Amino acid sequence: AIPTLTIKVVLLGESAVGKSSIVLRFVSDDFKESKEPTIGAAFLTKRITRDGKVIKFEIWDTAGQERFAPLAPMYYRNAQAALVVFDVTNEGSFYKAQNWVEELHEKVGHDIVIALVGNKMDLLNNDDENENRAMKAPAVQNLCERENLLYFEASAKTGENIYQIFQTLGEKVPCP
Ligand code: GTP
Ligand code: MG
Repeated sequence: AIPTLTIKVVLLGESAVGKSSIVLRFVSDDFKESKEPTIGAAFLTKRITRDGKVIKFEIWDTAGQERFAPLAPMYYRNAQAALVVFDVTNEGSFYKAQNWVEELHEKVGHDIVIALVGNKMDLLNNDDENENRAMKAPAVQNLCERENLLYFEASAKTGENIYQIFQTLGEKVPCP
């Protein structure tokens, strides 16, 4: 049989930043303009092959609405990797992402592989002056260096970088 590496991934981030849309793009290569907020959490799986190995992702897509925040520890407790998502046009969502990163490191430790994802890059693509970009590069870079994060700018809408995020997690999460 082909060896399979299973990676448990949790998605965290403010409501409406596009967590479920990132998962939908990765799992089904699809996008919906009006996606319902997640209630509680959703569980999905996806297999990819790399270098003759199968990587099975077990994905917990959490709900970002504040009333569901107490549930999050149940989903991140056993995770080997996390996608912490913000919306590149929404400054507040970046600071919320920063809080999630700090909580993960405090509660899970530093073995978890964390990818910070700036989603909705399509909204900046025709924005030459980057007027709608909420966070300037140095602020993002600073957090990534301080907390040892991978960083991706992505769009669930166009599919930009979505596959690469998971592929990189597959490389960075150590084999058991
Ligand atoms: P919660 O489940 O409430 O935590 O929200 P979420 O983070 O799962 O967000 P969701 O994926 O439901 O997306 C929220 C809205 O943003 C939806 O209307 C999506 O269509 C839209 N959206 C998601 N990703 C993108 C993107 O990359 N670009 C654009 N333009 N819109 C996006
Ligand atoms: Mg959702």
